[in-house]
Amino acid sequence: TFVVTENCIKCKYTDCVEVCPVDCFHEGPNFLVIDPDECIDCTLCEPECPAEAIYPEDDLPEGQEEFLEINAELARSWPVLTTRKEAPADAEEWDGKPGKKQYLER
Ligand code: SF4
Ligand code: F3S
Repeated sequence: TFVVTENCIKCKYTDCVEVCPVDCFHEGPNFLVIDPDECIDCTLCEPECPAEAIYPEDDLPEGQEEFLEINAELARSWPVLTTRKEAPADAEEWDGKPGKKQYLER
């Protein structure tokens, strides 16, 4: 499966959802996750993310391993998103900021 990692938090560009052939992105208040039970590993979403937040589960950057479980957990309660929407107005300011996990809203 592919995994949305920390840098999506507060950036949430949503370009990723447009290319997914199986609609496995789920949306929360300031983050998106991939449902690991639906993802078919097509790889299409990875290059679409302007924040470079998407990785295959076996190639997660150091420190991002916990996002595998976070994606699985939150995909169960968050609704599916299939259409791109406007990113937060301050998305660019947050892109690349370390330690964003504390701001993850559930
Ligand atoms: Fe969807 Fe493909 Fe990305 Fe999996 S790898 S989330 S199937 S676009
Ligand atoms: Fe997040 Fe990147 Fe998608 S910032 S919403 S994973 S395009």
